Amino acid sequence: MSKSKLCFQVSGEGPKNAKLMIIGEAPGRTEVELSRPFVGRAGRFLDKVLKEIGIERKKCYVTNIVKFRPTRVVHGKTKDRPPTDDEITLCMPLLRKELAEIRPRSIILLGGTAAKALTGRKISQIRGKAFRMLATVSPSTQSAVIATYHPAAAMRNRKFRKTFVADMRLAAVLQRTKTETLEFLQPLHTDWHVHTNCSDGRSAPRKVVEHARNLGLAGIAICDHDGVDGIREAKLAGERYGVVVVPSVEITANDTIDGKLGIVHILGIGIDYNDANLKRICGRLRGYRTEYIRKCIKRFGDIGIDVEFKDVVAHARGSLGFGNIMSVIRADRKKTEKLKAVLGIDEVPAFFKDTPLVIKDIAIKGLSVREASRVITAAGGIPVLAHPGNPNRYGILQVPDQKIREYARFGLQGIELSQHHHTHMQNKHYAKLAKKLGLMATTGSDSHKL
Ligand code: URA
Repeated sequence: MSKSKLCFQVSGEGPKNAKLMIIGEAPGRTEVELSRPFVGRAGRFLDKVLKEIGIERKKCYVTNIVKFRPTRVVHGKTKDRPPTDDEITLCMPLLRKELAEIRPRSIILLGGTAAKALTGRKISQIRGKAFRMLATVSPSTQSAVIATYHPAAAMRNRKFRKTFVADMRLAAVLQRTKTETLEFLQPLHTDWHVHTNCSDGRSAPRKVVEHARNLGLAGIAICDHDGVDGIREAKLAGERYGVVVVPSVEITANDTIDGKLGIVHILGIGIDYNDANLKRICGRLRGYRTEYIRKCIKRFGDIGIDVEFKDVVAHARGSLGFGNIMSVIRADRKKTEKLKAVLGIDEVPAFFKDTPLVIKDIAIKGLSVREASRVITAAGGIPVLAHPGNPNRYGILQVPDQKIREYARFGLQGIELSQHHHTHMQNKHYAKLAKKLGLMATTGSDSHKL
């Protein structure tokens, strides 16, 4: 059977305006026979519990992570088995589409497979806790999510049954709750924007993942500037430390806003980091970074601080950045003292304001925003505008809403909310704008110090 036929054996069902979405693991024999989800024994049990808590199933959207029946043959008999990671990955785009179409107020994840596939966490870690979905999974980022046992387990085990009913009740309450009041829910602890020393971050990818684990993060997106060199190491560390590592990148783009040419950063979340075209483009962007570094080195030379290009390269493991020049200066006492004597500052952000060392006029050359979005999408990623409300530092532009609308028309799919770069009011504004434009809102620390 072809992959596409397998995928469509049993699709989700329910009204497009459903407020509650129920996501199970995969259909069983009866479901495949009737081409409907949850109509076998577990389904009948689920219906009974829904009725008991006052929810009409016909008002819910019911679906599964995997849309075909995974089986194995034991002693000549066909039995159900849990879906493999590859099978889950194969069906994920279908679920993403359903989430984007339905935009439910609340989502209930039934069983370990659904919990793991959508949150990266084990059911034992998150069962019964309500949280907001801040995943890249869908633009419906305001959905409240609850994970509970699979009805088949609750049906068989009396101990699980009570808990299952209580969790379902909570999901029922949440679907009646206005989105704004969902603010109190804990977001899933995921950071969608983290750097490593493969660009201008402080620590090696393995260390970054270890820190993330120590902070209790469920997942991180490694977003190095114009490069994907750190991802393999981070993914291996992720497996070791139980942290989901989402392969990502931060692409340098340029735009002219209010007559000023500057930088706009576009995150590519969930890219295929082996994508040949993406790698080629990153190579080109690194060339532009080299040009930028040479210009900065010249400006330092003009004020009597000599920095050798080869020393800058020696301080970098991947793409070059201004921070690498600073590392060279800070590693040398004489240079550091001279810097302080000439400028009276040694704080990186200050260099991008008005000083005798004019760095703020040099912008790193990049792609157009349209081109960046296209490259990311072609590599299977989601283009997200990083910190749009950032004040003009490092040559990075503040992006007005009208520009964001324009970007959305040619392929941008998300806006980053940021505690570091934005005020609370800005984040509220961008969350609202994202919703209005049908974009997802991701949250990222833009941490360079993990
Ligand atoms: N179990 C599931 O997870 N889904 C179904 O549709 C049926 C049983």
